[in-house]
Amino acid sequence: MADQKQSIHGVWASRWVFILAATGSAVGLGNIWKFPYMAGVYGGGAFVAVYLLCIALVGAPIMLAETVLGRRGRQSPINSLRSLAYTAKASPRWAWAAVMGMIAALLILSFYSVVAGWALDYIIGMGQGSFTGISGEGAATRFATLTDDPWRLAGWHSLFMLVTAIIIARGVVAGLEKALRIMMPMLFVLLVALFGYSLSTGHFMEGVRFLFHFDLAEVPAGILAAMGHAFFTLSVGVGSIMVFGAYMPRESSIAGTVMTVALLDTLVALTAGLALFPVVFAAGLEPSAGPGLMFVTLPIAFGNIAMGQVFGLLFFMLVAVAAWSSAISMLEPAVAYGVERSGRSRVAVTAAIAILCWLVGMGTVLSFNVLAEARFMVADESGWRLFAWTDAGGKTFFESIDYLTSRILLPLGGLAFCLFAGWVLSRDALREELSLQHPQLFPVLLCLLRYVAPAGVAIVFVTELFK
Ligand code: PHE
Repeated sequence: MADQKQSIHGVWASRWVFILAATGSAVGLGNIWKFPYMAGVYGGGAFVAVYLLCIALVGAPIMLAETVLGRRGRQSPINSLRSLAYTAKASPRWAWAAVMGMIAALLILSFYSVVAGWALDYIIGMGQGSFTGISGEGAATRFATLTDDPWRLAGWHSLFMLVTAIIIARGVVAGLEKALRIMMPMLFVLLVALFGYSLSTGHFMEGVRFLFHFDLAEVPAGILAAMGHAFFTLSVGVGSIMVFGAYMPRESSIAGTVMTVALLDTLVALTAGLALFPVVFAAGLEPSAGPGLMFVTLPIAFGNIAMGQVFGLLFFMLVAVAAWSSAISMLEPAVAYGVERSGRSRVAVTAAIAILCWLVGMGTVLSFNVLAEARFMVADESGWRLFAWTDAGGKTFFESIDYLTSRILLPLGGLAFCLFAGWVLSRDALREELSLQHPQLFPVLLCLLRYVAPAGVAIVFVTELFK
């Protein structure tokens, strides 16, 4: 019998709003900022190939699992898992997967807010015309000046976090939908326009070759990075999609919806990559520049095309919006849980969590300047240490949080959600939630959830261990 429970936090007006919210969550800095620089660091094609494979075989099935669990549970991810486990007579400990996810989402938000702050800074820069006619070197210096200044970073980080908290405190259903309806298509149009520019650089094919040149020998280097990024870009493994699933109307079909979101997300990432790399090559920059890649290359493109200032301004505004629509989905699982658990108002809960997250984010702010030499997770000749003042080996604060979340917590969380949907939830419940138009697809999906996706995560972890 259908479970008629409703969420206390609200319900989307239709399936489309879920698509919008889930796409808003998925499409963000991960696609435009992180995907290109990671592809650059891990050598291009081999990374892209593993990433695409992981999206199809692991990420998308887990997104499906999360949506199903959310809509069935109708509460925050933690309480949804707890009540579903109870119904299935399974251990309530499954809820720990959602606790871990919730923490991972907040950790991601802490650095996401700092990077989104860079985009805010670039909006002003574009508005002032400070990129007009800029050279590759000039753009690199401009970026370094920004990251060297802790106060400037902290200011933008605070602003980004504040706005995220305000949207969440007011409830996601009303404000967000309108903005997303206009902004997401615009972002896409601008990306296509940039893509057009990169075609004109004369280095387009170099970009294509870099992203799609596949050499099996290069694969092992970036395999965990690529899988971690597949989780990151689809927003899976943390409960963000689950919490949005909890607000999904009863009647809508989940499988098609999830496919749409995963495809849109992939399309945006590939378009961003194809728009960026030709500019990188044309300007004689290194593809492996790291986190600054987008902030150095795109200004060169904008600084040297007709109307570049207007396009650039619009572009960074849209990046900020895409980042906000992702950021709220990182905060929502914790806020929904906090409200359910404490019975306090959404505003109070949001404020408390956002402040905590802001504080952790200050670690990332400082890791680009004052604490640039501080290293965590250091492994060198003298053994393994959590912290050291050394620039040999080890990761900065920002890199550690990024590593811990994308490469460890997200895949583990996703694995748990997927196993829960595949093995713990009853088959009938799963079938009913999926409400497939073509029932013959059910065994295929079940097989993906039960075997293929979990095996994918396991294989990548093991490969990484023995690398
Ligand atoms: N998917 C988002 C992006 O690509 C990031 C994100 C991760 C959002 C985890 C929510 C949860 O930018």
